[in-house]
Amino acid sequence: MSITCIAVAGRKGGVGKTTVSCGLASVFSNQKKRVLVMDLDPQSNVAFALGADPTAPGTAEVLMGQNPKPLSINSYLDVLPGGAELSNQTVQMTHPEELADAIANFSYELVICDCPPGNEHLERLALVAASSVLIVANAHPLAIMGAGRVMSELISYQEKGRKIAERWAIVQSLIDKRRKLDKNLDAVLQEIYADVERLIVHQDTELALATANQVPILEQAPNCRGAKDLIKVAEWCCHG
Ligand SMILES: Nc1ncnc2c1ncn2[C@@H]1O[C@H](COP(=O)(O)OP(=O)(O)O)[C@@H](O)[C@H]1O
Ligand SMILES: [Mg+2]
Repeated sequence: MSITCIAVAGRKGGVGKTTVSCGLASVFSNQKKRVLVMDLDPQSNVAFALGADPTAPGTAEVLMGQNPKPLSINSYLDVLPGGAELSNQTVQMTHPEELADAIANFSYELVICDCPPGNEHLERLALVAASSVLIVANAHPLAIMGAGRVMSELISYQEKGRKIAERWAIVQSLIDKRRKLDKNLDAVLQEIYADVERLIVHQDTELALATANQVPILEQAPNCRGAKDLIKVAEWCCHG
């Protein structure tokens, strides 16, 4: 079975990576696609956001060669939590293709890897495992810089002929076009990265509420603007 693996990255914290990861997982599971979210963040926010135990064994144990049981959120959606073990030296020393190898043995249609802020090794494992990358940035200049660093890494791996995701898009996140920076973001990105696809997830209280209520967004508010945005992001992931 061929697995579509999507990495959700961005370097900067608080830009909406976990919201996009969990939202996409909700969209795919609603389409009756078997989906696993792997949390690569030591803070372990994904399991919490989807209503599962964030302290259960998960991605770190996979990277240490164990076989933890994914936590079931619904019939189509499972989660492997992150956790402090991801900062262990053993995990930090893993081969860049270790996560890709582990995922190749799973039986899901889709695997979404939610990357941590800052930790380049954990992020790299996901970029190597993924076929597509969503690079999440809000309109803040530091977030745009973080997105640029992820793209530089992808391009440098490609140029060296190493295994790495083949395609990527920028997700403009937390967008409220009444704010000047947000209104200008699309034009700024068009100027710097003219040939990179730009997607958008507007700021939507329902997305924050879904996390607070620990339910997938399509259970929280299936028709909200954020859910509609995420359906379009999911289309890019599956069709381009
Ligand atoms: N599109 C959005 N609309 C409203 N709130 C959002 C949106 N995206 C993220 N948030 C909120 O912003 C905060 C940071 O989001 P999160 O997804 O955890 O970011 P990251 O994973 O990049 O650190 C959370 O409180 C989350 O609920
Ligand atoms: Mg996060």
